Amino acid sequence: MFSRAMVIIIVLAWLLLGLGVFFVAMRRGPRGARHAPHTESTASQRTITLGVIVLFAFGLAVPAIVMAFNGEHKTSVGSGGVHLNAQEQNGRELFSRTCAVCHALAATKSVGQIGPNLDVRVGSDISTAAGRKALVLSAISEGRARGLGQMPALLYQGKEAEDVADFVAAVAGH
Ligand code: HEC
Repeated sequence: MFSRAMVIIIVLAWLLLGLGVFFVAMRRGPRGARHAPHTESTASQRTITLGVIVLFAFGLAVPAIVMAFNGEHKTSVGSGGVHLNAQEQNGRELFSRTCAVCHALAATKSVGQIGPNLDVRVGSDISTAAGRKALVLSAISEGRARGLGQMPALLYQGKEAEDVADFVAAVAGH
């Protein structure tokens, strides 16, 4: 939404404006005011008032913009700096809702102990992204009962299963 560069430019503009108002106010200090003709002092009075109003508006806008920027920033970046697309962000939601109770995964800060730690079982054990996704998809569609406990089949189907698998494949081990 807001790029980092835009935020920096807005903040810099704000600082420059603040300095501008400060210097106009200094120039117009007690001595300047006494010697300046009446019209000029009214004009600079107006400049200062306008400057203060604009500064105040910026003071409200800048934190709002930075917060909006941060919000956007956080939802799309998983742990370890992995960038998540819309499907993977949806997958993260779904994972937290259903899978996190049984599985540990650093990216969702989940610590489930019933099933294997997915950072290890998916992240470290499988080397390719395609292989990771395939393993997660198969676990979701078939379920698992290979002696390490019970994982029910079909907790998700179709697109939801795909999104969860994309997400886990992208973040496991990070
Ligand atoms: C009720 C607890 C439980 C839930 C909920 C659960 N799992 Fe599991 N999961 C397990 C257990 C237990 C195993 C290991 C079973 C075995 O291999 O005997 C496992 C295994 C796995 C494996 C490894 C499969 C393999 O072949 O090594 C993956 C990947 C996995 N789960 C992903 C998920 C995902 C994604 C979800 C959410 C849709 C999920 N699990 C929900 C308990 C659960």
